[in-house]
Amino acid sequence: APPKPQAPMKDTSAKLVNDAAHPWKPLAPADIRGPCPGLNTLASHGWLPRDGIASPSQIIEAVQEGFNMEYGLALFVTYGSHLVDGNLVTDRLSIGGKTSFTGPDPPAPAIVGGLNTHAVFEGDTSMTRADFFFGDNHDFNETLFDEFVDFSNRFGGGKYNFSVAAEHRFQRIQDSIATNPNMTFVSPRYFTAYAESVFPINFFVDGRLNTFELDLDVARGFFQDSRMPDGFFRANGSKSTEGIDFVAAQHPIEPGRNVNGINSYVVDPTSADFSTFCLLYENFVNQTVKGLYPNPTGALRDALDANLDYFFQGLTIFNGDGPGACVQVFPYGKD
Ligand code: HEM
Ligand code: MG
Repeated sequence: APPKPQAPMKDTSAKLVNDAAHPWKPLAPADIRGPCPGLNTLASHGWLPRDGIASPSQIIEAVQEGFNMEYGLALFVTYGSHLVDGNLVTDRLSIGGKTSFTGPDPPAPAIVGGLNTHAVFEGDTSMTRADFFFGDNHDFNETLFDEFVDFSNRFGGGKYNFSVAAEHRFQRIQDSIATNPNMTFVSPRYFTAYAESVFPINFFVDGRLNTFELDLDVARGFFQDSRMPDGFFRANGSKSTEGIDFVAAQHPIEPGRNVNGINSYVVDPTSADFSTFCLLYENFVNQTVKGLYPNPTGALRDALDANLDYFFQGLTIFNGDGPGACVQVFPYGKD
């Protein structure tokens, strides 16, 4: 079975991460990048393998070392995406498109398509990547970045901050409802969309600053070029989804989808929302993961059980183990 995740990183101070050992380099022909500017940047600076294929342990280490992402969130997001997008037997995940470099595929309906795979983890209403319906859900999109800039000018005095995040997140949802007939905005995408709207403030702002606002040139570097500014320091202390409640509260919207073409958004009461966080976990495991792996055997079954367990550990650290703690589910039994 795949190795246990390493212990949390101990020293969470701000420090130089665009250092001599981690220079930015342009892409080599076979290098893979995808929809996540955080992981793209870690790969282009060599905190992750530059080819864009990594194990969950490598990702968990890199997001802590390179950006000071909080350990529980790092586990939760990494194992969540690996379970649906990665090769569980070879312990390899593509941070972009499908590739034979992750090893031989398990039987269908498993996808092992990398982070570009639509609707299992990647989803609609991204800030700088278009909806899957429009043909490319992973490359930087200049038109969308221009809107990000416009919102930062209008609501943030030329910087991206939490007020901008709230207005822009709402706009991206409204845009998709009005233009994408297949628009879907249910768990887990419902949660990741709000989380990712605050990530640029929590992780792309230099750790020596306490401004909570992101310079737009710096933003372009990360989103477009997978590049840290010269002399960049990671966040000061581990960071997670700080600001998400503020962003979600400015323009509350319930999870749902367009059911009959554009402008036909209907709330989906079966989706988890902010008041039913554990349902995110339960539906993800019992429906999404089980749907991809209905009857696993042998090494595949062992790898699934191990990754599901690490995923639950991450959830428990992220969400807490007091009142409101989630209860582990075992889609393949407990033996
Ligand atoms: C988006 C995966 C860590 C910043 C995404 C997406 C995926 C992903 C699949 C695409 C979702 C979508 O927009 O449709 C992961 C995984 C991580 C991770 C598996 C492992 C821990 C990070 C870190 C940062 C980050 C450390 C910041 C330093 C972002 C941002 C977006 C995003 C800002 C939104 C991009 C946009 O909307 O244009 N991530 N991510 N991620 N990620 Fe990550
Ligand atoms: Mg997307």
